[in-house]
Amino acid sequence: LSIIDTANTIDYSNGEIKGESLINATKYLKELPNIFEDQQSFENTDPNKIIYEVQAFLPVKEGLEGGLFFGKTIIYPGKIGDEYFMTKGHFHEKPDRGEFYWGIQGEGILLLMDKNRNTWAEKMYPGSLHYINGHIAHRTINIGESILSFGACWPSDAGHNYQEIMDNGFSARLKEIKGKPQLIPVR
Ligand code: 6PG
Ligand code: NI
Repeated sequence: LSIIDTANTIDYSNGEIKGESLINATKYLKELPNIFEDQQSFENTDPNKIIYEVQAFLPVKEGLEGGLFFGKTIIYPGKIGDEYFMTKGHFHEKPDRGEFYWGIQGEGILLLMDKNRNTWAEKMYPGSLHYINGHIAHRTINIGESILSFGACWPSDAGHNYQEIMDNGFSARLKEIKGKPQLIPVR
C-alpha cells in the first residue's frame, strides 16, 4: 500500500494545469475568419495576434466513452471593430454531452444558443459556475481590460462541431455600444 502524489496540479490563481497528458493550442486571428463581423477591422489587425489559448488535460483517448477532460481557456483583452475577442464557439459532436465552465480571472460573457437558434448569455467572473446542457452551442467573450480565464470539464466523447457556427454563427452578437457590452440580434 502506498500514498502517492498526483501527476497533475492546478494553479487556482490563473487556472494553469501542470503535469502530464496536456495539450496546448494557440488561436491566432488568422485562424478565425468569419467570426468577427467587421471585415475591415479584421484585415487591418495583425493576423498573428493571439486571440485565445486553450490548455487541456486529456487523461484518456479522445472519443472514449465514460472519460472526462479538464481544460483552461484564456482570452486576451481586445476588440475587432466593436466586437470583443471571443472563441470560435461550437456545439458538441455528440449533442447530448454537457459541460461545466467556471470563471477564474477577468470579466466575460458566455454566449449560449439552442438548436432553434435562441441565444442568451451568462456573466462570467471569478467564481461564476456554468452548466452547459448538451445540445447548446457555447462561445466565450472577454469583455474586460485584462485576461479572461476560465476552467472547463467535459466528457471525453463529446467532440466538437464547429461547422454549424462557422456557417451560420450565433443569432446574436455581443458588441460594445457606448462603452457597454450589448447583445444585438443578427438581422
Ligand atoms: C470544449 C470546451 C472548451 C473550448 C475552448 C475553446 O468543449 O472543449 O468547450 O475547451 O473548446 O474554450 O473554444 P472553441 O473550441 O470554441 O474554440
Ligand atoms: Ni464545449
